[in-house]
Amino acid sequence: MNETDIQLKMKKLRETIHYHNHRYYVLDDPLIPDADYDTLFRELKGLEDQYPQFVTADSPTRRVGAEPLPEFQKVTHRAPMLSIEDAHQVEEVYEFDQRVKRLLDLPVEAVIDYCVEPKMDGVSASLTFEKGILIQGSTRGNGSVGEEITSNLKTITMIPLKLNTVEAPPFPDLFEARGEVFISKEDFFMINQEREAAGAALFANPRNAAAGSIRQLDPKITARRKLMIYFYGPGYYGAWTFKNQVEILDTFRAWGLKPNPLTKLCRGIDEAIAYHHHIESERETTPYEMDGVVIKVNDSSLWAQLGSTTRNPRWMLAYKFKAQEAQTIIKSITVQVGRTGSLTPVAILEPVPLAGVMVQRATLHNEDEICRKDIREGDWVIVHRAGDVIPGIVRSLSEKRTGQEKRFTMPSECPVCSEPVVKEGAVHRCPNHDCLAKNTERIIHFVALNAFNIDSMGAKIVQQLIAAGLIHDIADVFYLTFEQLVQLPRFAEKSARNLISSIADSRKIPFHRFIFALGIRNVGLHVASILAREFPELEALQKASADDLVSIHEIGPEIANSVVEFFQADRNAAVLDKLFAAGVTIKYETEPPLTTQISALAGKSFLFTGELEAFTRSRAQELVSSKGGKAATSVTKKTDYVVVGKNPGSKINKARKLGLIILTEQEFIDLLAEKEKEI
Ligand code: IVH
Repeated sequence: MNETDIQLKMKKLRETIHYHNHRYYVLDDPLIPDADYDTLFRELKGLEDQYPQFVTADSPTRRVGAEPLPEFQKVTHRAPMLSIEDAHQVEEVYEFDQRVKRLLDLPVEAVIDYCVEPKMDGVSASLTFEKGILIQGSTRGNGSVGEEITSNLKTITMIPLKLNTVEAPPFPDLFEARGEVFISKEDFFMINQEREAAGAALFANPRNAAAGSIRQLDPKITARRKLMIYFYGPGYYGAWTFKNQVEILDTFRAWGLKPNPLTKLCRGIDEAIAYHHHIESERETTPYEMDGVVIKVNDSSLWAQLGSTTRNPRWMLAYKFKAQEAQTIIKSITVQVGRTGSLTPVAILEPVPLAGVMVQRATLHNEDEICRKDIREGDWVIVHRAGDVIPGIVRSLSEKRTGQEKRFTMPSECPVCSEPVVKEGAVHRCPNHDCLAKNTERIIHFVALNAFNIDSMGAKIVQQLIAAGLIHDIADVFYLTFEQLVQLPRFAEKSARNLISSIADSRKIPFHRFIFALGIRNVGLHVASILAREFPELEALQKASADDLVSIHEIGPEIANSVVEFFQADRNAAVLDKLFAAGVTIKYETEPPLTTQISALAGKSFLFTGELEAFTRSRAQELVSSKGGKAATSVTKKTDYVVVGKNPGSKINKARKLGLIILTEQEFIDLLAEKEKEI
């Protein structure tokens, strides 16, 4: 064969493989057995190895193999990636239908066609195709600018590297296809099992697993996660014309961009609502997570008339499913000791499947909460999980009591070190600085993300190192040696070497993360960032008095005292010396750290009014501060968000007058999860 023939043969093979991919992944209708497909694939691969000069970017062999990146590049979307307005109650769905008709000057009784699609609970991606070839893929980011993750997206076998042209309409020269990347419930369990075995932190839910996988700097890691994608619409689409959403999805399917097969055209809002209920009833048995349906006006000529707000198109609505609940038994109540010594009662449950995960534990927050809800060991309870939030107990089912249930009282001694417990407000606390539980949590916090960020050092490994007597305090982490590690069970040479090198890599650390890593009480990431901005270097912070500290905006006396106390303690001074002796260096930032990059809540103030369903008020406030936000107690111009529960007080009126952003509880929960969603 001469070179032209070889090129032709390779082209033919590529096209054949693309076509069989399409039959398999999009049409669910393979024409040839897997073994024949493998033969074609190997033949192409063989030719490509022999003639690398003829390899093309759209070759089906090019999915894996890209080199790890140092960081992600930014990509500006050609059309912004907006969000969708949420509805939880059926009345809101009727209101949406009425609003659509009002805006279109249609009579109240007009019947609108809606395209109803499952709302996939994953992460959105935008894929740019030029002349039918995938040239770029990105995350949503802030909606205008996302991160370039082309190599990662190429590892997803459901994404065509080249659009199908067989029996398909022509495609525009340049367009963006948008879809939701997700992972099946089953693969999520498998990944977590592997991670547990490896001592790595577990993903909280399939969405986090998908988000974590798609943002890997090394595409080989992404390739190992079995990510999937369903496409739901275009971004920028050039001169392409279409009549309606159903036609868009049909065309997408023909090109090889698979939409969710559970999509349905509904005549009128009642049919759309009925379909929502139908999909909700299939939720448990569907192999991936959905959190509602998206109801879209089908006729695309109406979209421009309806327009968009700054955040949402007015022609679609996300009708969310009910927060998921399940019934189970509390086998026992144990007490966990946190980093600051706080004792948290935790219900150990008879495992029960809920929203795609097996729920085995639920926090009971504190003793007051247990009394208020009258929760006893042995009780039947309703557990609830909303979005990302850890499961909570809604109530106990006292009618199912047998008389064998036991009331719970907080221990008077720390369950770990036996030190007598002290009570501060609603919180029970172990005051022993050297308590093993506190120490373990301190070290876990020290190496965690946003602190020293020692990736391969999960909680299990920290526990193992403490048990082996290799580390006693945070500074000891930097004195670990390869020889010590390889002797430990479950440490192979490679993992020992990896851990040592990630520890070495973490030695240089930005000032705000250093402060956060110390685990000073009341100093979360946001406060740490303020302190890093206000003090030129550590020495100045160490010397600061409580008065100096309270003069800083957002620093109150409680934080100030914790900081002063921390730096006055001799044992902390000793640990700091030990850290610097090990070569830890602080990078002082010339620019103030942008906490907004860390979480959607960072730097924002939240006020809660009315009763919340998913958490107690104090738990919600805790969540806000754990994500770098601030919980406010009164409504002022400076309040960023007012979260409204059931039966809100007068604060909501004041908030409206001031024109503040008002969130429903679900919107607040979504915001809590936003970082994971948007990255
Ligand atoms: S249409 C204006 N359709 O939900 C945004 N989105 O909350 C147009 N999502 O960022 C999106 N399933 O990631 C659309 N069938 C579906 C969807 C869907 C999941 C996600 C998407 C979007 C988010 C908005």
